[in-house]
Amino acid sequence: MNWQRKNLLGIQELTTDEIIFLLDSAAAFKQVGERTIKKVPSLRGKTLVNLFIEPSTRTRTSFELAAKRLSADVININTTASSLVKGETLKDTALNLEALNADIIVIRHSAAGAPHFLAKFLQASIINAGDGAHEHPTQALLDAFTIREKKGRIADLNVTILGDILYSRVARSNIWLLTKLGARVTLAGPSTLVPRVFEQFGCRVTHDIEEAIRDADVINLLRIQHERQRKTMFPSIGEYAAMFGLNKERFSRTKPDALIMHPGPINRGVEIDSEIADSDRSVILEQVTNGLAVRMAVLFLCAGGKHED
Ligand code: CP
Repeated sequence: MNWQRKNLLGIQELTTDEIIFLLDSAAAFKQVGERTIKKVPSLRGKTLVNLFIEPSTRTRTSFELAAKRLSADVININTTASSLVKGETLKDTALNLEALNADIIVIRHSAAGAPHFLAKFLQASIINAGDGAHEHPTQALLDAFTIREKKGRIADLNVTILGDILYSRVARSNIWLLTKLGARVTLAGPSTLVPRVFEQFGCRVTHDIEEAIRDADVINLLRIQHERQRKTMFPSIGEYAAMFGLNKERFSRTKPDALIMHPGPINRGVEIDSEIADSDRSVILEQVTNGLAVRMAVLFLCAGGKHED
């Protein structure tokens, strides 16, 4: 297929073919990452700006490394040291970056729709690195890539997403991607964080953790998004861990080949016990490794690269 998009704003608007094309392209870039010389000249002469107006370890580093592997120049904007703190608007900041010939702007923002807003008036490619509780498209792509690599397929798998669904952009992007690719998605957690309204996205909703994990081929754990919660959603962290955390006992009742996933950052002893996070069933660090290949593919295609290259 011919990739036509210059922006990656979300998974919701992608077709199944586009998602599969991105995953296949990422597989090719993963092979590049296994060579002695890991750098290719695809984005030589292009400039990528990482505009992260929310904290990040994995996504920001991964986009920077991906761009460098593609030979682009990379600028990281530290928002606390930028003119945003002097009252400059996001629009003016972005226009100034474009005036400096930014070709690709990777943005993370606490407001849902911030990347879509920039895409309306900028010529540069806009890549969504997380917008509020809305979408985190490259996280869902790297999660799908990891599942496909480990399980050989996504269709017909039972995928349970367990935790704070309500405030999670990772959950929304995963739901859209996994249902498009034919997985059966179960959402689980406390009723305050997993409302039944999510059933309208084609998912099963349960508040019974034992039922949610029993038949799961993949268990994707999410942390509590305290930074987005405006009121107390459960009595205490200790109670959450006791009721919904993946501990040793619950782990022993999962399928012996169920993958344990987490987008990070993990809160050990809350949504996941340390020995499970570090077990051989956990693919948490492989997700991070795969994120590099996925982001190389996204940058390459949105910057106009062709598959035969
Ligand atoms: N998974 C994820 O988005 O991690 P960061 O917040 O560290 O980028």
